[in-house]
Amino acid sequence: MAFIIDGKAISTEIKDELKQLAAEKKAEGVEVTLAVIQVGDDPASSVYVRNKKKGCEYVGIRSLSYELPGETTQEELLSLIQELNGRRDVNGILVQLPLPSHIHEDTVIRAIDPRKDVDGFHPQSVGALCIGQKGFVSCTPAGIIQLLKRSGIEIAGKECVVLGRSNIVGKPMSLLLLRENATVTIAHSRTRNLKEVTGRADILIVAVGKPKMITREYVKEGAVVIDVGINRDENNKLCGDVDFEDVAPVCSAITPVPGGVGPMTIAMLLNNCMESVSLQS
Ligand code: GUN
Repeated sequence: MAFIIDGKAISTEIKDELKQLAAEKKAEGVEVTLAVIQVGDDPASSVYVRNKKKGCEYVGIRSLSYELPGETTQEELLSLIQELNGRRDVNGILVQLPLPSHIHEDTVIRAIDPRKDVDGFHPQSVGALCIGQKGFVSCTPAGIIQLLKRSGIEIAGKECVVLGRSNIVGKPMSLLLLRENATVTIAHSRTRNLKEVTGRADILIVAVGKPKMITREYVKEGAVVIDVGINRDENNKLCGDVDFEDVAPVCSAITPVPGGVGPMTIAMLLNNCMESVSLQS
């Protein structure tokens, strides 16, 4: 049976380190502050936003909450972002996605000052990651690197296959693995002979949004499997993109859903908030 990577425990370890740092900053008179904006009342977004605010509270980061009605115009949202960009007492700005369809997501992301872009979604942040410069890194892939490192899993020289090519996970994930000196393949819905490609992976990262798609035929014996998916199965139970029961016996380490990658995303958001302070001083 595989070693089960405990994302909840590792995220708590990180949050406790950040708590210490936040207390030190507070003693220097700096109150780290995150502005969280939600437009509309999408239930899943409301859960994520609540958990982000709870994370802030745990660590000692002040959170400012902007819950705007679904009819908010793009101009109104941009004008709030401009105001927050200019506020010296706001270190990070997070606009929860998805936005209502009348608002252009790209325009909103670009409006955030890159020095406050704690989600790491601004093109400047993505570009910096691509060429190895300093900048915010998208929280889920950054969290996966921490999961691997803190579980003692070596990345350098390994064959890593990232299944999924989204801007938020797949693409930044592959750049981060490359930065860690892995050999990286990105596979996606148009990849031919998918089982052969994923079967080469020493570390397989799955972010496709298809419940239990990855069974043991996709996995090399002894591989490390990281499951980014959060889905509901036929019994409405939370499940990942990996069929955990089928895959766990053949791999060396695996993340569960829930309790694997999920908690790490918030821990890395809080970490980015803490780092934003030094970028702004
Ligand atoms: N929606 C789904 N994931 C995320 C995330 O990491 N950040 C934001 N802002 N919105 C999201």
